[in-house]
Amino acid sequence: MSTSGEPVLQVRGLYKHFPLTQGILFKRQVGAVKAVDGVDLDLYRGETLGVVGESGCGKSTVARLLVHLERATKGQILYKGEDITKLSGRALKAVRRNIQMVFQDPYTSLNPRMTVGDIVGEPYEIHPDVAPKGDRRRRVRELLDVVGLNPEHLNRYPHQFSGGQRQRIGIARGLALRPEVIVADEPVSALDVSVQAQVVNLMERLQDEFDLSYVFIAHDLSIVRHISDRVAVMYLGRIVETGDDTQIYEHPTHPYTQALLSAVPVPDPDAREHRERIILTGDVPSPADPPSGCRFRTRCWKARERCTLEVPALAVPAVFRDVDSPAAHDSACHFAEEKTVVPPEAGGE
Ligand SMILES: Nc1ncnc2c1ncn2[C@@H]1O[C@H](COP(=O)(O)OP(=O)(O)O)[C@@H](O)[C@H]1O
Ligand code: SF4
Ligand SMILES: [Mg+2]
Repeated sequence: MSTSGEPVLQVRGLYKHFPLTQGILFKRQVGAVKAVDGVDLDLYRGETLGVVGESGCGKSTVARLLVHLERATKGQILYKGEDITKLSGRALKAVRRNIQMVFQDPYTSLNPRMTVGDIVGEPYEIHPDVAPKGDRRRRVRELLDVVGLNPEHLNRYPHQFSGGQRQRIGIARGLALRPEVIVADEPVSALDVSVQAQVVNLMERLQDEFDLSYVFIAHDLSIVRHISDRVAVMYLGRIVETGDDTQIYEHPTHPYTQALLSAVPVPDPDAREHRERIILTGDVPSPADPPSGCRFRTRCWKARERCTLEVPALAVPAVFRDVDSPAAHDSACHFAEEKTVVPPEAGGE
């Protein structure tokens, strides 16, 4: 998991607004769900970027934009410097091969009427140049073996497998075209806790073996801690804080990250007793009508007038700009400050 050199993916000012329409015969647009509303991200080669935020904040929409299942309303997605939002036809197809997705729910994302062999080999139908027809079954067997499944089970159907095994099938399908980037949308959220670690470990092993870069999406900071080199915290369509593992988990400066961290389970009972719980009040506002200024202000215990008037930029806050400390990282808050939420002794993995 070493990061190096140029980013493989750079996301700049990415927007996805879904129109809200009214009327049956004469549809007119009455608004928009601002699912993704100005997102910037970098993914470096060989790294895992964790993207974390509550349900509905726009994580899956970002994932779908990255793999081109959805078209951006505005903004750039640069793959090795080339803006893929502008591509079409053959050029787009070539890029799409290199950026694959692993879906959230292995119970619904695998076609129940297809055999495992056909599911894993399906990408070859779309990109026949990658594997000649006569070679596909061998490749599928190899892929099943690589993800820890019995290669002889390629004629079975998804229902004959457990949740963890199904997600292994989904991962094998994601690997079929030998992509460089895998966007995994909550790949373990639908699995039993006991199986989650196995799938995360498998993904880590595959990352080294196939030189993969991951965007790993989760709704909970504890799951991505183990696998991520860097983390981006998302709230209501925007990234509110980014940093490496130590910066985010031990020196968070954005109130939302601090609140999310305070909800992470702490195994050590002593540490659990001493940690502060931040209970967020109020509901997540609707992405069709986000609050002015800082979007988190309706739930933030530190909100002041400036938070209503001014959108905080995602940058190193002024107070930390000249400080040599892990607190000096991007945080979109006018009043960013450090707060130890999880006691250091409980911060480990
Ligand atoms: N196709 C769509 N049409 C309209 N609204 C959508 C569509 N897809 C997602 N949304 C809305 O966009 C917001 C973000 O959704 P999503 O990206 O699925 O969030 P997450 O994955 O973080 O739970 C939600 O309010 C959701 O209802
Ligand atoms: S900008 Fe204001 S409302 Fe937003 S997180 Fe910071 S203190 Fe809270
Ligand atoms: Mg989602």
